[in-house]
Amino acid sequence: MSLHRITCDFLLFTALIHFMGITCLPAICNLDCQVNINKTVLAKFCSASAFKLQGRCCVNTTSPDQLDIIGIDLQQCGMTQKKFSQGIDGINTLQFIYLQGNDIDALNITDFHRNTGIQNLSIPVNLSCPGGIKSWESIEIKTSETTCVGEKNPCISEKLTCPLNSHCVHSGIDMSECLCDEDYHGYKCMNKGKFPTVPFAIGITASTVALCIFLWCTQRRYVKSDVKNK
Ligand SMILES: *[C@@H]1O[C@H](CO)[C@@H](O)[C@H](O)[C@H]1NC(C)=O
Ligand SMILES: *[C@@H]1O[C@H](CO)[C@@H](O)[C@H](O)[C@H]1NC(C)=O
Ligand SMILES: *[C@@H]1O[C@H](CO)[C@@H](O)[C@H](O)[C@H]1NC(C)=O
Ligand SMILES: *[C@@H]1O[C@H](CO)[C@@H](O)[C@H](O)[C@H]1NC(C)=O
Ligand SMILES: *[C@@H]1O[C@H](CO)[C@@H](O)[C@H](O)[C@H]1NC(C)=O
Repeated sequence: MSLHRITCDFLLFTALIHFMGITCLPAICNLDCQVNINKTVLAKFCSASAFKLQGRCCVNTTSPDQLDIIGIDLQQCGMTQKKFSQGIDGINTLQFIYLQGNDIDALNITDFHRNTGIQNLSIPVNLSCPGGIKSWESIEIKTSETTCVGEKNPCISEKLTCPLNSHCVHSGIDMSECLCDEDYHGYKCMNKGKFPTVPFAIGITASTVALCIFLWCTQRRYVKSDVKNK
């Protein structure tokens, strides 16, 4: 198989996934851990709700083209700060996270990426809640774990303000950003009018398809001439 053909297949495959919205469960949901997932709080919560337990993750499967991971139980999974952070990169729908029973020596707000709706975060007792007390509605300390309850939106809890034509958006634990108001874009949100996203997307799609057709055609020619030469 030639490189062109592989590239072409890859592009088509990527486009297919993109348009059909097919998503796969991330690897972190399939870890082997010492705590039986069926005996966890997450499993009980998940079976009592409309969600589905898949590996160590509780998934919202309501919408067929989208798998939203609501919860993840990583108790006694040999987690480290780095493994956790890398494992959940790209997931931003987490509400319940269990990390107790791991040798994690620190946790940083950035390890949680852009999760803004965390309800319960259980961590080893010796760690403090990421972002500190101000980032959570309450903190419950037990002998086996500390639970940080109710992630706060700093835009509201700290009454953050943004420059002209922009507004504050919660973007992670103790993190926020100023986004341009609707109808404004560009440097300091000074340009009025919608950013041309649709023509931009069409441009990208069209060039991908064109490249694919081009590669496919050139590859076909090689295949034919190969046959003739035999
Ligand atoms: C958890 O329960 C499911 C369904 O009852 C079962 O298929 C699975 O093997 C169980 N997992 C463990 C680790 O016991
Ligand atoms: C589950 O997914 C559906 C469809 O995407 C959405 O409407 C609903 O709010 C989700 N539920 C939760 C709790 O996130
Ligand atoms: C968290 O990570 C960021 C970026 O890697 C770093 O700048 C910051 O100092 C870290 N904070 C703590 C408390 O370790
Ligand atoms: C979340 O934390 C609250 C407060 O500790 C607790 O009552 C609730 O059972 C927890 N839910 C889950 C699913 O862990
Ligand atoms: C956690 O804290 C307890 C009590 O302060 C201490 O005995 C224990 O050694 C600490 N564990 C770690 C891993 O730091």
